[in-house]
Order: sequence, then C-alpha cells, then structure tokens
Amino acid sequence: SPIHNFLAELPKCEHHLHLEGCLSPALLFQLAAKNNIALPSPEQDAAYQSPATLAKRYEYFENLEDFLQCYYRGIAVLVTEQDFEMLAWEYFTTARRDGVRHAEVFFDPQSHTDRGVAFETVVAGFNAARSRAEKELGVTSCLIMCFLRHLPVSSAAQTMQTAIEGGYFEESRGGDHDGGQQQQQQQRAIAGLGLDSSEVGFRPELFVEQYRKGQELGLHRTAHGGEEGDPTYISGALDTLHVERIDHGIRLTEDAELLQRVVKEGVLLTVCPLSNLCLQAVKSIDQVPIRTFLKAGVKFSINSDDPAYFRGYILNNYCAVQEAFDLSRDEWRIIVENSIHGSWIQEKRKAELL
Ligand code: HPA
Ligand code: ZN
Repeated sequence: SPIHNFLAELPKCEHHLHLEGCLSPALLFQLAAKNNIALPSPEQDAAYQSPATLAKRYEYFENLEDFLQCYYRGIAVLVTEQDFEMLAWEYFTTARRDGVRHAEVFFDPQSHTDRGVAFETVVAGFNAARSRAEKELGVTSCLIMCFLRHLPVSSAAQTMQTAIEGGYFEESRGGDHDGGQQQQQQQRAIAGLGLDSSEVGFRPELFVEQYRKGQELGLHRTAHGGEEGDPTYISGALDTLHVERIDHGIRLTEDAELLQRVVKEGVLLTVCPLSNLCLQAVKSIDQVPIRTFLKAGVKFSINSDDPAYFRGYILNNYCAVQEAFDLSRDEWRIIVENSIHGSWIQEKRKAELL
C-alpha cells in the first residue's frame, strides 16, 4: 500500500536496540552447535528442542522478567569475536532493509564477561560489523555500553574500569581502515552509557558514580526508565544520572508535571511499541501514548528493542503504530525529524538524513 511504502522509505534512526536481542532462534541453534554449548534438555525446558519450538516460546512473555530469562539464557551461545560480528551483521542488514540509516545500539558487556568472554572479544566483533555496515550499507552507528541494573554496582564499576583502561572511550580517527582520503570524524569505540535489565527495585540512583565518570569523560548518557517502573524512575535518571534520553518512558503520562519538564528540556524518549505489547506493559498498541506525546510536544523515536523476541524489526513497529493511530504523513515526518535531531551524530550527518 502507498502508506506502507512511505513508512518503508522514511530515513530512520534507531536508538533503542539491544544487539543481543537480535539473536534469532535459528542463529541461537546454529551458534550452540558450532560452539558446543549445551542447550537446556527437554526436562529442563521443552522450549529448546528446535528453532521452531523456541520461536513458539517467544510468542508470549508474562512481563520483563520472563523475557529477560530467555534473553540471558540465549546469550550463552555467543563466544567468539566472529559470533558477535555475525549477530551485529544480522541486525545491520535487516535494519537497512527496513530503511534504517543510522543506529545507536546497546550491548550488555556484563552478560558476556560474567561467562568468561573478554570485553575486547565482544567489542571487536561488534565493531567489525559496524565498519562493514558503514562501508557496504551506508548505515552509520554508535555503540552504547549498558550496565545491568540487577547486578551489584561493584560489577558496573568494574565494567567501567575495563572500558576506561582499554581506551574504549577515547577519541580516535574513525574509518581509517579503508584508507579513505576523506576527512574522518572523531569517533570513540563506545559513544555512550545506558542502563537496562530488571527495572523495578533497581533504581537509577544506584549508578550515579558510573554516570558521573561518564559525563566527565564526555560520553553520551541514556537509561531505561518508565517501562515497568513508575515515573520516579524517569525523574531519578534525569536528576541524578543527567541522561539526555529516556529509553521507553511510556509511564511519563502518569506525571503531568514531569511530562512538561521533558518537553521543556527536549529529552527524547525511545519508544518501543511491539516490545511494550509483548511484555504486557500495554494491552494493545493503541495504549502506547503516541498521540499524547505528539500533542504535548514530547519528542520520541520508534524502535524495535529486541527484534528477535518481539515480532519484528523497526518497520514492523512503524506499521503497528500506523495501524493503531492512522497518523498523517506530516506527523510521521515530525517523528522522523525528531529522531534525526535526537541522534548523537554531527550536524553534517543530520543534514544528509533530513
Ligand atoms: N528492558 C530492560 N532490559 C532489557 C530490555 C528491555 O526492554 N531488553 C534487553 N534488556
Ligand atoms: Zn530495551
């Protein structure tokens, strides 16, 4: 249909995407076989018999916690640098097909280092896919390092230390690998900090020291908030972590004063409609506060979160929103412009995308 083509062709920026959330059942089984990783036996968990039974399992999650159990269990099959490269390459190729031109992607280093996989293995694999995506697909990207909020703060501190000592936050000339003569922009291996995993009971204020250090180092900052947690998880992240964005943020509608502050300060929410539906944060897509945000002038982008688990990549999310809200082309242009302006890229790149 004409509107579907219009949505497909919009120059999209994705801001809320967990690379580990791109592990499809097919790739999970493929990597488990290659790396000799034992999957749960039928007695332990009947879902792990085949890619098909696992896909069936992903059709229903009770809540965030129920999903996270599957998510962390799947991650165990990722071992070598090539595994991480393959995973990220699967994301970039699929996202490009959906019209993504720029992606700011999350990864969870603690979910790998806790299993004995080196930080460098993870980042080297992801960065190999990122360079290839820029060169072959024209998709630019940044990497956002997330802390797992259910783990002790000391583990986040250690992760921060590893990244600092490894020079991952330092500016270097990006893109030199292809010998290009063009003026390259200053790039960091890791551009920003994020905060994810179980929200309720794991308040943003716990991570104030890590974010303070990140701000001092000139890193961008975002945090999940207001997905399952009440609006104080949003205000807490703004007040104490000095985040530039809030990931999800749908419960912002419960606090009118905070909503006005978010508008005034131009904070961008990275909304994930299909994720909210799959994790029972909303009963149907029309309960995602898209119209409320548009009317109030809250800036937001539309994202896929964990596409291998939540019924599709970014275009499925755009289409689900269109089906529920019947937005005008001008409203879509506002959403896409806000997501370009809210990206952590130079003005020159924004101008290319607009
Ligand atoms: N919320 C919290 N943690 C996560 C998510 C999410 O949607 N996806 C992967 N880790
Ligand atoms: Zn998320």
